[in-house]
Amino acid sequence: MSLDQLKREAAAVALTFVQSGMRLGLGTGSTAKIFVDLLAERMKAEALTLICVPTSEATYQQALSLGIPLTTLDETPELDLAIDGADEIDPHLNLIKGGGAAHLREKIVEMAAKRFIVIADETKWVSHLGKFPLPLECAPFGLEATKRQLAKAIAAADCSGELVLRKRADGEIVRTDGGNVILDAKLGRITDPAKLATLLDGVTGLVEHGLFIGMAERAILATSSGIRTVTL
Ligand code: A5P
Repeated sequence: MSLDQLKREAAAVALTFVQSGMRLGLGTGSTAKIFVDLLAERMKAEALTLICVPTSEATYQQALSLGIPLTTLDETPELDLAIDGADEIDPHLNLIKGGGAAHLREKIVEMAAKRFIVIADETKWVSHLGKFPLPLECAPFGLEATKRQLAKAIAAADCSGELVLRKRADGEIVRTDGGNVILDAKLGRITDPAKLATLLDGVTGLVEHGLFIGMAERAILATSSGIRTVTL
């Protein structure tokens, strides 16, 4: 099975958790995109009533084009369920997110949801987080100074690695939906993700890091031998 087929399998299982009347958070990325497509199909087929909050401008545009009713967290600050992908998932359901530069809005939306389910193909499952570079969304102002503080926080969590400013293929600096920049921390292995998250939370100039600690209640993983569901 191709990775796209696996993503579709995971998204289809996540869809079974959606019930009419729900307030739903919609994730960002290729897996979440498939989920949003399937959601729109099911809404039409079953006349489901839902109200959704997208986690990025990209998901907003997709949902809008599919006719999915949208709201904001200002109008609807509490959600029933959020469904999103991830870049890495560990056995404690701690995640690295932000490969698509959307983790700030994703974290805000997923914190506002009573339940957060992560969907992924099997390649995202890891024994330890950190092989995927950890996205650190930073204010552009004072970036070099912020970078030094980040390096200290990372060292205090017994990790090390280069912090690389994310650029597009054409060399342009990547800007998030909020106008910030991303430093990708190439840590290799994060020994204590919760400790690192707490230390990073104390760095002024860091807008949000891509560690999602204790947020997901369930992972739906599509493997070549079927769906694997992990709950804590
Ligand atoms: C967006 O910033 C990310 O957090 C995505 O949720 C994550 O990168 C997963 O994306 P894919 O489903 O495309 O792998």
